[in-house]
Amino acid sequence: MSSKSFKRTLVTSALPYTNGPIHIGHLAGAYLPADMHVRYLRLSGQDVVYVCGSDEFGVAILIQAMQNGITARDVIDRYHPLIRDSFAAFGISFDHYSRTSKEVHIKTSQEFFQHLADKNEFVLKREEHLYDPVAQVFLADRFVCGECPYCGYEHAYGDQCERCGASLSPTEIKNPRSTLTDAVPELRETTHWYLPLGKWQTQLEQYIAQHPEWKPNVLGQIGAWFSDGLRDRAITRDVPWGVAVPQKAADVAGVNAEGKVIYVWFDAPIGYISSTKEWAASQGDPDLWKLYWQDDESRLIHFIGKDNIVFHTLMFPAMLMAHGGYVVPDQVPANEFLNIEGAKLSTSRGWAVWLHEYLEDFPPDLLRYSLATILPESKDSDFNWYEFQAKVNSELADILGNFVHRALTFAEREFDNKVPPLSALSEADQAALDELAEFPHKIGDAYQQFRFREAVRMTMNVARLGNKYFNDQTPWITRKSDPSQCANTIHISLQICAALSVFMDPVLPFSAEKLRRMIGLDGVRSSTPSRNSSDMIDWNQAGTPLLPVGHALGSREILFHKITDDQIQIQMAKLNTSSSEQEPIPYAETKPEIVYDDFAKMDFRTGKILSAEPVPKSKRLLKLEVDLGFETRQILAGVAEHFQPKEMVGRSVVVVANLAPRKMMGLESQGMVLMAEDPLGNLSLVSSESDPGSVVC
Ligand code: MF3
Ligand code: ZN
Repeated sequence: MSSKSFKRTLVTSALPYTNGPIHIGHLAGAYLPADMHVRYLRLSGQDVVYVCGSDEFGVAILIQAMQNGITARDVIDRYHPLIRDSFAAFGISFDHYSRTSKEVHIKTSQEFFQHLADKNEFVLKREEHLYDPVAQVFLADRFVCGECPYCGYEHAYGDQCERCGASLSPTEIKNPRSTLTDAVPELRETTHWYLPLGKWQTQLEQYIAQHPEWKPNVLGQIGAWFSDGLRDRAITRDVPWGVAVPQKAADVAGVNAEGKVIYVWFDAPIGYISSTKEWAASQGDPDLWKLYWQDDESRLIHFIGKDNIVFHTLMFPAMLMAHGGYVVPDQVPANEFLNIEGAKLSTSRGWAVWLHEYLEDFPPDLLRYSLATILPESKDSDFNWYEFQAKVNSELADILGNFVHRALTFAEREFDNKVPPLSALSEADQAALDELAEFPHKIGDAYQQFRFREAVRMTMNVARLGNKYFNDQTPWITRKSDPSQCANTIHISLQICAALSVFMDPVLPFSAEKLRRMIGLDGVRSSTPSRNSSDMIDWNQAGTPLLPVGHALGSREILFHKITDDQIQIQMAKLNTSSSEQEPIPYAETKPEIVYDDFAKMDFRTGKILSAEPVPKSKRLLKLEVDLGFETRQILAGVAEHFQPKEMVGRSVVVVANLAPRKMMGLESQGMVLMAEDPLGNLSLVSSESDPGSVVC
């Protein structure tokens, strides 16, 4: 957490491209964590506004249209309602969901652009760009595909490599082809507006330095950008779909504006602002958006996936700084990627679980819960259907559902479906109440600090506490032997149910409401955007008993139905039919056999990393000082995109000590640090427990 205290929070989730439905990778990246955070804030009585909308411009949508022989407008009109409605059905509780083709957005982004043009914040460049001689159009962004200059991936796009995440420009692509016609592009001159990011580097560095609390995966990427040096970024395009470059800016620059649009990554984040404007108007206070965007005491948080990091931590902040008068993001809790059944999610190959399809088969809460337990918070994670089933059956149904069921059944049979009285507390009673009282702040802190998996694990611990307490108290025995003790047990169990109905709300909002109905608990703040009054029960009160003695409970329902093997097989089959091309990610092949003497030539030693720092102008390299006991070596390791320097310092690793020295980026590397790389390309250090210098044999 930053030390600053805020009066209100504006939360955004990445505006999804409107060229396809939402899948679980989107949910795990930018939507479910944001929604849980926001619901927690609302439950704890904080002032929060949560906005999003469809990202409707950009070349990806145009390509989709051209491939299907329809217009870009057709594409967005088809997907916008589908996306909006599936989010709503999944319980993503936006205060406002807009779309960037709206007039308010076009106007807002043009004004923003014009303001920067007026302030002379852009540079104009006349340059040679790739041009498709067959289709007779300039080839921006995804209109170009070819080889990634960094990792060699053959299907990289002109804006980004989807394998290594490098951000690219079309002219960097090796062996480029037009995605429209497959033609080999030629070069033609054209003029474009650039945002000189380099000019902002110092200010951005100072800004990022104020946020050591940001996630290591986020800071790692930013560090790599800084050490590479920020460069001018083109923010206009020659494509027939987008927000038109304002006529005034073109006139002043003496450029023909026809056919020129603002780059989608310039207008889309402004979509957060236009969505907030629309929200404010809907609240009957059109200026209210300014409070969230322009007041120092407003906290701005962007939830995104890792492919969006640079845009939200460098480019958009630079735009906001250049404009002036705006707050900049205070947190950007980006998630890594979610794989499915051990293979990379791929929409083009149909290897995905689509939200709207999921919702036809199961209630939203089951997926919310199971995804929340595997969010790719610090590294890529894997969704699989059998694990989904296990989580639903043995956690939601057997732990949470079962506890509620036992407490309510007992209350109905033995206590006339009312909350029984509480008399002299036993030690165990007191201990259970004391433990319950700790949870609001334990779970709350985790939500507050974006540790969602932990928050959900602790929520389930409340149900575990309930089950254990119930079992230990054996109310089925004390009902005869010690009725007042039995009453205590059920009283306290019901209080735990009531508390649970609040604690589980951020992750399981529909079930939380159902549970509150079952126990007849009214007056809890809503976690959705509705007017809550200050006398309502809030998150922090939920650790204290919420149900008065004699309170009439509601009628029992089943909280979670178990999932059968058949239901899971249907889902597996869906994944398989739609994805005949999908190969699991292969393990690296084993190398040809060697003899012992080959191995004996290598000198492996334990080394301790003394220091690690980025290598200027290199995205990949870190410079390490490694203590080998008998001497200290300088070793360059190509891991800057995987580790933050400070994560490496102090680690004991294994070093190839007799590798011939070689130079990289003008620096000598005297050895090599061993790493393990999994099939997804994740790296981890190979560690050793012995002292520096020890021979690894
Ligand atoms: N549409 C982009 C994507 O899906 C995200 C845009 S986020 C915004 O990757 F900030 F630009 F809105
Ligand atoms: Zn690449």
